[in-house]
Amino acid sequence: MMFFKNLLVLILTLSCVVKQLFVAAKLPQAEVDVLNQIVKTMGATNWTFDADTACEFHEKSAVTELTRNISCILGPDNSTHHISVIEFKRYSLSGVLPPELNQLPNISKVSLFGNRLSGNIPSQLGNIISLTYLDIEANQFSGTVPAQLGKLVNLGTLRLSSNRLTGNLPTEFAELKSLTDFRINDNNFNGSIPEFIQNWKQLWRLEIQGSGLKGPIPSSISLLENLNQFKISDIDGTNQTFPDLSNSTLLRRMTLRNCNISGEIPGYVWEMNKLRVLDLSFNKITGKLPNVAVPGDLKFIFLTGNLLSGNIPESILQKGITVDLSYNNFTQPTLEHRACRNAQEFDLNLFRSSSVANNLSGVLPCKTDQKCHRPLRSFYINCGGNNVIENGSTFEGDGDKNGGVATYYSNDHWGFSSTGDFADDDDEQNKYYVASSVQSSDISELFINARIAPLSLTYFGYCLQNGNYVVSLYFAEIQFTNDNTYGSLGRRMFDIYIQDKLVERDFDIEAKASGVLKPVTRKYNATVTDNILQIRFNWAGKGTTALPQRGVYGPLVSAISVVDPNYKPAKKKKIVEIIAGVGSCLIILALDVLKGSDLQTISFTLKQIKAATNNFDPANKVGEGGFGPVYKACQLQQKEKIMELVDPKLGSEYNKEEAERMIRISLLCTNASPSLRPTMSEAVSMLEGKTAIPDSIPEAGSYSQDLRFKAIRDFRGLNRSQTQHSTSAEDLYTIDDESYLRYNVVKDGYKMIETRSSDVQLSTSMPSWASSSSTSAHDHNNINTNS
Ligand SMILES: *[C@@H]1O[C@H](CO)[C@@H](O)[C@H](O)[C@H]1NC(C)=O
Ligand SMILES: *[C@@H]1O[C@H](CO)[C@@H](O)[C@H](O)[C@H]1NC(C)=O
Ligand SMILES: *[C@@H]1O[C@H](CO)[C@@H](O)[C@H](O)[C@H]1NC(C)=O
Ligand SMILES: *[C@@H]1O[C@H](CO)[C@@H](O)[C@H](O)[C@H]1NC(C)=O
Ligand SMILES: *[C@@H]1O[C@H](CO)[C@@H](O)[C@H](O)[C@H]1NC(C)=O
Ligand SMILES: *[C@@H]1O[C@H](CO)[C@@H](O)[C@H](O)[C@H]1NC(C)=O
Ligand SMILES: *[C@@H]1O[C@H](CO)[C@@H](O)[C@H](O)[C@H]1NC(C)=O
Ligand SMILES: *[C@@H]1O[C@H](CO)[C@@H](O)[C@H](O)[C@H]1NC(C)=O
Ligand SMILES: *[C@@H]1O[C@H](CO)[C@@H](O)[C@H](O)[C@H]1NC(C)=O
Ligand SMILES: *[C@@H]1O[C@H](CO)[C@@H](O)[C@H](O)[C@H]1NC(C)=O
Ligand SMILES: *[C@@H]1O[C@H](CO)[C@@H](O)[C@H](O)[C@H]1NC(C)=O
Ligand SMILES: *[C@@H]1O[C@H](CO)[C@@H](O)[C@H](O)[C@H]1NC(C)=O
Repeated sequence: MMFFKNLLVLILTLSCVVKQLFVAAKLPQAEVDVLNQIVKTMGATNWTFDADTACEFHEKSAVTELTRNISCILGPDNSTHHISVIEFKRYSLSGVLPPELNQLPNISKVSLFGNRLSGNIPSQLGNIISLTYLDIEANQFSGTVPAQLGKLVNLGTLRLSSNRLTGNLPTEFAELKSLTDFRINDNNFNGSIPEFIQNWKQLWRLEIQGSGLKGPIPSSISLLENLNQFKISDIDGTNQTFPDLSNSTLLRRMTLRNCNISGEIPGYVWEMNKLRVLDLSFNKITGKLPNVAVPGDLKFIFLTGNLLSGNIPESILQKGITVDLSYNNFTQPTLEHRACRNAQEFDLNLFRSSSVANNLSGVLPCKTDQKCHRPLRSFYINCGGNNVIENGSTFEGDGDKNGGVATYYSNDHWGFSSTGDFADDDDEQNKYYVASSVQSSDISELFINARIAPLSLTYFGYCLQNGNYVVSLYFAEIQFTNDNTYGSLGRRMFDIYIQDKLVERDFDIEAKASGVLKPVTRKYNATVTDNILQIRFNWAGKGTTALPQRGVYGPLVSAISVVDPNYKPAKKKKIVEIIAGVGSCLIILALDVLKGSDLQTISFTLKQIKAATNNFDPANKVGEGGFGPVYKACQLQQKEKIMELVDPKLGSEYNKEEAERMIRISLLCTNASPSLRPTMSEAVSMLEGKTAIPDSIPEAGSYSQDLRFKAIRDFRGLNRSQTQHSTSAEDLYTIDDESYLRYNVVKDGYKMIETRSSDVQLSTSMPSWASSSSTSAHDHNNINTNS
């Protein structure tokens, strides 16, 4: 879907450009000559203008922001015109910035966002007193910013973001008193955020993210009372307390991310009634959150990565407010706390939000059963995609978990925590946290989809055997294109932490892979000491944020594998599986025969199943849903000779009680009427011994509604409301039913199902022998660790 959307964008950009024609205007020949020189210098060699046509050059794509615009104003003599606007956005022009711009007497706006212009910013630009708007964001300008620009006293907008600019901001900039919009993100500046920004009293929007400038934020920032959009992030340097913004009551977006801020959040923040986005993530903020009404417009609260303590106040837990409290020091909420009890009513991320953060309670907030019965040795994830088998391992897809601004997801052995709102994408719904390749290519399926995040994304595995692991991270840049359009101009950078340790700074997939749509794999050693492994991807304000579209930036990861390289599969475990399945009711009957402690794992093929069942000899059938065999089975059961069903080849080395339980359930599952068969979760509940198994199966051929199953359902319903957040077997199977079905093979009424050993190991008290043998998510050797 996303792919087609992007393709459409591309096609429309390239071919369907809406043309706007304006009334022709005569331009003095001197300005025509200058204009031709300017576009040539910028690298647009095939554009030439004359006095009649120059001022008619307006085109803007209906879908993208691909824009060109040369506009003119009427001179005082009413007969000549003068160029006032030069705008080429997303044109991939690869020249330099022409000093000749200062020969256009009435130029007021120069907008060159999204090109490949390089070299220095010419100091001659400082002579263009008429300039009110200068945007050279997302180019390749380098060197220092000329001090002469400080003479541009009429300048309202100055956007220098996403270049390679260095050095200090010149002190002459103190004179830019008309500035309303100043952005210098993603550069390599040097020095501290200057005191003189206090002069820019009209400033409405200020962005200093990943600029290279250091802290502290000058205290004089308190004088900027007109601030509306305020983003400062990723400044190194000394610690500081919260800057005084008490008079900036018009603030709509307050981002103070990774600014080394300590101390508490001042109370006035909760009284800023225009505030929509509050991002104070990754500081050292302490103290408690007050239980006071929050500003009515507040929609996103990011307090991720601080030292906040005390109870989570109920006041911030409201419908319509998205709150990320991950990585903090709050008191662990009890199951009765609104944060756990009503979690489905609001968007809240509590991953590692408490002081007991780094154990199972931390990574599985609001869950009860947190014991690891059988630790894993590996897991595989296809981030943002479907289940994909590669090199014999199934990478489990999480593409259906689309995510959101503050998202927590966990299954029975891994999960993710995702934080952030893609800024300026005009989408507060934030549906797209999964990216799909914009261009078709022969890239392997693992890379076609990826998970993306605007701020911080953590994948974690839990219930891992402690020891050393090899973490492989798979990447391919799929949001940019490899052509000469604006789609190829983007630059992505993010940091990677494994077990909270920085392993990559400014990781650039495209650079590492030498191109887009090319896979690149990074391998890291990691040590697990508390059964948990965490991989965190973090955006530190680097890279472009609006190419090809606004809101394209931040971490992107295609797949993850975590394996214990030293683990050797255990030997000689013999497992005999009888699998009976009809319709929606699937039951796996596995009777393991353990020959001492010498174990061998067998992954069953249809052939092996056939052998074990004497080629589906009807005598071995436990039922197939047809009247005959089921009826025969009924008779057996009524005669209490149920154990006759067990293959004599199994000998006596199994738990008879458990085997009988299994067979009884199997019989239920083979009922002729679908309505009489238990659901998967009911069956699992019976397997676990939580639910009693009806004594006898209904009469074959009877299609009447069986009230026993209604009773079971009622019981489950009750259970559900009581243990909403526990990872019950039901949750697991509800999630995983489909993936089971994907791998089944149907033959003569028998279904062979690849199942995941851990599903039944980790959070249920399923009899150990009931866990199946074959693999999809894990290596064969994952099972039997404590058999
Ligand atoms: C300039 O010429 C190139 C190559 O001939 C063409 O692809 C491009 O569309 C032209 N640019 C404009 C603005 O017409
Ligand atoms: C070109 O710029 C003029 C002056 O700023 C503006 O009025 C006009 O809408 C712009 N046209 C396009 C297509 O952007
Ligand atoms: C230009 O036009 C305006 C109104 O259209 C008029 O007021 C002004 O006098 C004219 N200037 C000259 C030099 O003709
Ligand atoms: C255009 O530039 C001339 C020369 O600098 C100046 O006198 C005039 O006021 C300007 N016109 C406008 C509308 O800015
Ligand atoms: C950065 O600033 C410091 C101190 O102001 C200076 O010593 C250093 O040379 C500067 N580095 C660059 C690359 O300009
Ligand atoms: C934060 O401040 C402390 C204390 O001044 C300093 O040691 C530390 O390096 C700072 N951190 C960063 C990331 O700049
Ligand atoms: C900076 O950190 C030091 C040591 O951690 C602390 O003593 C000092 O109060 C902090 N300063 C500010 C402004 O937070
Ligand atoms: C905020 O404004 C009030 C009233 O103008 C003033 O007295 C106070 O000093 C200002 N606070 C700051 C921190 O500038
Ligand atoms: C975490 O909170 C507890 C109180 O709940 C406090 O004792 C402890 O010092 C805090 N830890 C940090 C690192 O702030
Ligand atoms: C996590 O740690 C806390 C305190 O350190 C402890 O009370 C809790 O039982 C631990 N949880 C698990 C599942 O180990
Ligand atoms: C699968 O194996 C091939 C060949 O060894 C290798 O190039 C590829 O990276 C492997 N895939 C994964 C996901 O590890
Ligand atoms: C990872 O560990 C293995 C085995 O100890 C070692 O050979 C290898 O060099 C390590 N790799 C890295 C990147 O440290």
